[in-house]
Amino acid sequence: MEPYIQSNEIIKKAMESFKLPKYVTVFDTTLRDGEQTPGVSLTPDEKLEIAINLNKIGVDVIEAGFPVSSAGEQEAIKKITSLGMDSEICGLARAVKKDIDVAVDCGVDSIHTFIATSPLHRKYKLKMDKEEIINRAVEAVEYIKDHGLKVEFSAEDATRTELDYLVEVYKNVVDAGADRINVPDTVGVMVPNAMYYLIKELKKEIKVPISVHCHNDFGLAVANSVAAVEGGAEQIHCTVNGLGERAGNAALEEAIMTLKMVYGIENRIKTEKLTELSNLVSKLTGIKTQPNKAIVGENSFAHESGIHAHGVLAHALTYEPIAPEIVGQKRKIILGKHTGAHAIKAKLKELGIEVGEKVSEEQFAEIVARIKALGDKGKMITDMDVVAIVEDVTKRTLKSERIVDLEQIAVMTGNKVIPTASVVLKIRNEIHMTSEIGVGPVDAALKAICSIIGEKIKLKEYHINAITGGTDALAEVVVKLEGYGKEVTAKAANEDIVRASVEAVIDGINKIVE
Ligand code: KIV
Ligand code: ZN
Repeated sequence: MEPYIQSNEIIKKAMESFKLPKYVTVFDTTLRDGEQTPGVSLTPDEKLEIAINLNKIGVDVIEAGFPVSSAGEQEAIKKITSLGMDSEICGLARAVKKDIDVAVDCGVDSIHTFIATSPLHRKYKLKMDKEEIINRAVEAVEYIKDHGLKVEFSAEDATRTELDYLVEVYKNVVDAGADRINVPDTVGVMVPNAMYYLIKELKKEIKVPISVHCHNDFGLAVANSVAAVEGGAEQIHCTVNGLGERAGNAALEEAIMTLKMVYGIENRIKTEKLTELSNLVSKLTGIKTQPNKAIVGENSFAHESGIHAHGVLAHALTYEPIAPEIVGQKRKIILGKHTGAHAIKAKLKELGIEVGEKVSEEQFAEIVARIKALGDKGKMITDMDVVAIVEDVTKRTLKSERIVDLEQIAVMTGNKVIPTASVVLKIRNEIHMTSEIGVGPVDAALKAICSIIGEKIKLKEYHINAITGGTDALAEVVVKLEGYGKEVTAKAANEDIVRASVEAVIDGINKIVE
């Protein structure tokens, strides 16, 4: 079925003049430009893990790194090329023989070679004239072709280069055998109309596929990449989560979803894996994804306002451009001060509490008021808070309906003691207790819980965020657990990190065993 966006009359009319391709090739540079993100350095095994997942998700080309930059980089690229993936594995090389030799030695399928062409780079960086640059570019392309590899050629800082000279450079490298040319907007100065114009001009002269590489200095990397496709570009460079030098590159998830959902342009990406890939890259690079990041952010499909939550519960497309499942996300109704009764009723239902059954209409009105009052205090309302409010209002114990419950926890820590936690759990009304040591109180507490629960349930991921500032910051803990063929995510918030961690893990265990 055609996505709903594509039947939008305004978009259809606006696109009538474009000759759009049916397919756009995705060149992922997370492992090269993405790794140039300040503060990011991946080990060879981490690069390999990302490459395996980029291949799995279906990117056409993986730029695995800049081989000449270090021995570790060469080790990583060799590990990647040794796996014989479906994706084309590419290595970056300056238009220099040594760079090319090292890339060839890493076993890549293709080489992305570049030399700067703009007046600024010619004068201050390369100290070369126009002719010398063309000669170097041509020699590099011929040298790579002599090794039997595919070549993608980039005129670095293309978008600040004189157009007639840029065309001349590209024509020369195509004559020398370049298989694709790439147009880097190295410092992100393009705007969509200018990018569209540039690609249209290049299309008149260049007969090999045209690619673009957009940087996000003005926040326009994705818009410029899309405009390039409108102008005739057949390939886009992107990075997972928009990582990259300075403000980053075009975000893969945003660019390909726009092309696919709005323009109907296909690619090989298994979009339902996008959020998982984003989380993996965030975990390995240590660069947290902002919650309001398009497509893969924590809030991309979260609704808090009463009006929005009501609309979404009636028909999801009222306040969502696409279904969250398409990108591996889930719709979330967040409770807070803007929440309305519809959303709270839906949340109670999700927690197994039916209004009219366990909760009377008057009690429900009281629950709504209490949730809003809590939201007014600026507190994030968790499932545990909702359960506590419902229990208090209805004078019923809902918690005991949970299979596993925390009865007691005590932790001991300090500079002269080994952090130790004693935990008492009630499992189907039976009391279990144990103590464990750990590297810190959280580690000890979670080890104690896991030792009671046994090996069948495993803690796969643990993340902690400070929601508010100060020493009394509210800590939000998010955990991923795996067991009995299920994988669940659970979270809890508390001023006490140990309590938040324990509550999140116990909540997750209950989700698995229910
Ligand atoms: O931004 C840039 O110009 C680059 C080149 C190496 C293509 O990353
Ligand atoms: Zn770049």
